[in-house]
Amino acid sequence: MSDGPLSKLTQIPPSIAAVADYEPLARERMSAQAWAYMAGGAADELTLADNQAAFQRIRLRTRVLADLSGGNTHLSLFGQTFAHPIFLAPVAYQQLAHADGELATVLAASAVQAGMVLSTQASVSLEAVAEQAHNPLWFQLYIQPDRAFTQALVKRAEAAGYQALVLTVDAPVNGMRNREQRAGFCLPKGVEAVNLRGMQPLRGSAAPSGGLLLGSALLAAAPGWADVQWLRSLTRLPILLKGVMCAEDAQRALAEGVDGIIVSNHGGRTLDGQPATIEVLAEIAAAVQGRVPLLLDGGIRRGTDVYKALALGADAVLVGRPYVYGLATAGASGVAHVVQLLRAELEVAMALTGCRDLASIGAERVLVGAH
Ligand code: FNR
Ligand code: LAC
Repeated sequence: MSDGPLSKLTQIPPSIAAVADYEPLARERMSAQAWAYMAGGAADELTLADNQAAFQRIRLRTRVLADLSGGNTHLSLFGQTFAHPIFLAPVAYQQLAHADGELATVLAASAVQAGMVLSTQASVSLEAVAEQAHNPLWFQLYIQPDRAFTQALVKRAEAAGYQALVLTVDAPVNGMRNREQRAGFCLPKGVEAVNLRGMQPLRGSAAPSGGLLLGSALLAAAPGWADVQWLRSLTRLPILLKGVMCAEDAQRALAEGVDGIIVSNHGGRTLDGQPATIEVLAEIAAAVQGRVPLLLDGGIRRGTDVYKALALGADAVLVGRPYVYGLATAGASGVAHVVQLLRAELEVAMALTGCRDLASIGAERVLVGAH
């Protein structure tokens, strides 16, 4: 019999040198079931692995003796100012990683001035998170089959002070992943999507046509492009579409009037066999042509990965599992440390490639597919 999860660290040991060092420490501090949920990806986890591997295939080109005076990592999106381009991605059920869940995360995000996106499926109320925030907060929206409930959720997020909506569109179907099934994952008692309490469950989810999924009530209630217009009519908040993976969808999103695009394959958790996000970024950046902010997530584990994404056309990036592993290891301190590690590595990469600000990081500073 294995022992139960280890207790949280109260101090960050100097032996944690990189974001990757948190992964084994987090694993020891979570149940096997929770670990399968947080770490897992869809099916054979090819896309999960490729998100990281694709960054490792890109090389950086230095510039020497550059003038770096007045350097900074600032950026502005939708009129909001950010100290650096590293955001915390929406991750559901953070109480699986730490008893304080999203409250610990927002404390850390405030301390390190990171933009944070709270999941619709957060395990803490969106109002309680907003009360703790001293950093810009965005709300991630899953359009629910119950559109009246969805509308009320958007109004709650607005009232609580969230400054943008991240509409996630790549997971209308998000069943149990193989790894979760093998580990017997289910949500433990006490952890739930509290912001969805009171919602009407979807009825009649079996597919009457004899199909298993196609023709089902689940897909009939899934959001479509018309729902983007509907959402636009409900709110004045900027709307970012999360989960775009090709130029055609980026163009359609622009035509529908979205305010920002997030290139994402959901951290390899939905459809396995998709390309790495960094591999489709250039195609999407070419379609967007700077008309709206472009963000990317998936596989970022180094500040140099942040740099590579910016070089290939992203304005900012989000990280998911890295900060959850920090949370599971050492609570808010772990989350804050993960962001600081990434930021420090980004700044070193900028200095050694002669870039004094984010706008200077261009495609000419990276080598893609040259080896
Ligand atoms: C996610 N992600 C996610 N996305 C979203 O829009 N709403 C959500 O509720 C969740 N929940 C969630 C749970 C867990 C455990 C993970 C790991 C991820 C996806 C997330 O926002 C992001 O796209 C990826 O995590 C980015 O990949 P990395 O950084 O984890 O490699
Ligand atoms: C996930 C859902 C909640 O990735 O987005 O687990």
